[in-house]
Amino acid sequence: MSEIRRQIGELPLEAQIELLSGRDFWSTPPVPDLGIPSMTLADGPHGIRRQRGDADHLGIGDSVPATCFPTASCLAASWDVDLLREVGVALGREARAAGVGVLLGPGMNIKRHPAGGRDFEYLSEDPWLSGNLAAAYVEGVQSEGVAACPKHLVANNHETYRMVSDVIVDERTLREIYLRGFEIVVRTARPWAIMTSYNLVNGTYTSDDERLVGEILRGEWGHDGLVVTDWGAVNDRVAAVRAGTDLEMPSSGGAHDGLVADAVDDGELDPTAVTDCATRVAELARRTHDEARRRRDGGVGGDGGVDEVAHHRLARRAAAAGSVLLTNDGTLPLDPGTDVAIIGAFADTPRYQGAGSSQVVPTRLDVARRSLEDALTGRVRSTPGYDAGTGEATTEQIRQATDLAREAEVPIVFVGLPASHEAEGIDRGDLALPRSHDDLVSAVCAANPRTVVVLCNGAPVMISWADRPAAILEAYLGGQAGGSAIADVLLGRSEPGGRLAESFPASMVFPSEENFGERSRQVQYREGLHVGYRFHTTAAVAARFAFGHGLSYTTFEWDEPRLEGSGTDLTVSVTVRNTGERPGSDLVQLYVRDVVSSVHRPERELAGFAKVHLEPGDAETVTMALDERSFASYDVDEARWRVEEGEFDLIVARSSADERSTLTVEVPGEMIQRAPRGARGPGRDRFVATTAEFESMLGHPVPPVTPVLPFTINTVVEELDATRLGRIAERAFRAIARRQMEAMLGADPDPVLVRLSERMISEAPLRFLVSMSGGSGSLAAFEGLTTLLSTLRITGRRS
Ligand code: BGC
Repeated sequence: MSEIRRQIGELPLEAQIELLSGRDFWSTPPVPDLGIPSMTLADGPHGIRRQRGDADHLGIGDSVPATCFPTASCLAASWDVDLLREVGVALGREARAAGVGVLLGPGMNIKRHPAGGRDFEYLSEDPWLSGNLAAAYVEGVQSEGVAACPKHLVANNHETYRMVSDVIVDERTLREIYLRGFEIVVRTARPWAIMTSYNLVNGTYTSDDERLVGEILRGEWGHDGLVVTDWGAVNDRVAAVRAGTDLEMPSSGGAHDGLVADAVDDGELDPTAVTDCATRVAELARRTHDEARRRRDGGVGGDGGVDEVAHHRLARRAAAAGSVLLTNDGTLPLDPGTDVAIIGAFADTPRYQGAGSSQVVPTRLDVARRSLEDALTGRVRSTPGYDAGTGEATTEQIRQATDLAREAEVPIVFVGLPASHEAEGIDRGDLALPRSHDDLVSAVCAANPRTVVVLCNGAPVMISWADRPAAILEAYLGGQAGGSAIADVLLGRSEPGGRLAESFPASMVFPSEENFGERSRQVQYREGLHVGYRFHTTAAVAARFAFGHGLSYTTFEWDEPRLEGSGTDLTVSVTVRNTGERPGSDLVQLYVRDVVSSVHRPERELAGFAKVHLEPGDAETVTMALDERSFASYDVDEARWRVEEGEFDLIVARSSADERSTLTVEVPGEMIQRAPRGARGPGRDRFVATTAEFESMLGHPVPPVTPVLPFTINTVVEELDATRLGRIAERAFRAIARRQMEAMLGADPDPVLVRLSERMISEAPLRFLVSMSGGSGSLAAFEGLTTLLSTLRITGRRS
């Protein structure tokens, strides 16, 4: 037994329980007698949000300026583990300088649907890519003595009703798609902390889930660090302690402490579970404190000072590395002497991060128009084209844009999603750009065919006009240096290094669309494994731009791939040569296809990738390693990964839709006699399971949706309108919450934050109000209230 475990175990139970929840919104309680300091946690993921005044988890209150790096979708498009590690180091250094011990990131939920409200904050639709990029980020952060905290375990793939939404997903899909990235990050990078999610999975809140937290995360994967709840996510604190969810954040003002103490007294909760959780909180607090002190004292890693200029430069490099050249007829890169028309308000009012808990106050902000003006020697004129806030355009604005476009050699049109479209807590209704942006692009392209479109958005959009402009650059939400990075890329001072880490669909015909975004307490993942490119390649429904796609300014040649090794331990090597005139980077992708399988499998799955940076004329051989897991699928009946013997194709590709060479190998494995549960997946031609198919995947009937009545502490505020008394309570809760929000939002509130807070109030479960009341609300009182409010039902309304 460790010394700290012994010391914590000797504390009175109440003192141990105190360690299980925050001291306030962002920190843990210290234990001065044991020399255990308080530990500060902060968002994350792409910059440090260290709040100075009022605390909140929506990005409302002010925070100390910090480098705003590109958001996850842009970083992931770099497919560059070294870059992710470097950004992690910079974030770790800034966190430490701000006195932060735990950085709440990376966000690594799978982008199940391209309209997910937090897709900008997540890495990819593919678990192998997410897991490996996240691992590099975690290693970077932790090399600075700061804990990284991958989030949100697991299946937090939509925002609608996120605090009460029950994800119904079959075990095989959970293992192969939604847990896989977390498994990779835990096994390879050993994060010191993990955050559970707000939602339920198959009927259990993730933080209460003994199987998820205890058996899978800690038992199978060996996570020995902290497990922290998402902010205000606690459902049943006793169950969560039993599961091994150590820390409740933020402080609930002791609202749950009594319950934990009573459960120990009643013999319902083993006191060692309390000691285990308290020990892990104390251990991490001491570890992060000691790491910071060691560095401060000059022992390791410098003095903790932050070089803002260097970090800004890194942010600029990262934004260019994550920007994806979707099309180009040779118009890009621009010659500096080109006469250009800069069209679009986003050129002046940049979209560079999304709204919500990840929102940071940047140390500086580069504006694309100014960067372009500085870099170009030809005539530069500009016009807004639309309103930056609403995204709407008047006829006059569009006319001015087309006039300018006609007179320029190259019009550069900035379009994308207005800030209100990309916020935590709110899914998008569709993938459309504002209509005026589509109109603007069409009008400008009609006026001048040499138009270059720069897209500023954190997640996929519908690009119905893809073949009209001369070039399209997906610049994503590029962080504080996004503006100068765009200028760098347009002029060829940097190459557009990105390849899409997510599919851009051509229409809304993809299977997760059938079960997404409803204001419902249950979401059924009937598409199973068919997420993103797994669907597009299996169903042969082409995406507009495929996962892995992206062009370069230079040209590359690949030699025939070479295979070495035996059994499942194989390596595939490819020599890549830069045959063009410019330096550039290329990405080799390796997919695995099971040629004949007794279990249903996607047509191809990513199993390796390698990024190379090459000067003109240079060549490099990249090697990608495969192992047993590259070929395995999860056998639910036997609860283990299995490789079925037989032929597999190893597909060396430029994107999920652009295969260059295929090597077929005979892989040793097991004979699968009887198809295990979940093996069939949705029907062969339909990618959304029927109820019968879904039940066979689940191995049990689809559970009923929890009815609205009777109310419970998990009733959300807007559901209270099902009874007369409930409606009165709903109005009262809204009024109180609104008053609090107004005080925080100030006299001239940001409309995005107003919308976000309104949505948060509507969808907050009653227990969340207790958790966030800082001790003024009591769970018992709210439970009593729900019984009372359940009476006087309104006929004909929700039930
Ligand atoms: C988000 C987390 C975040 C936390 C603290 C929550 O609303 O889901 O990702 O780390 O707030 O701000």
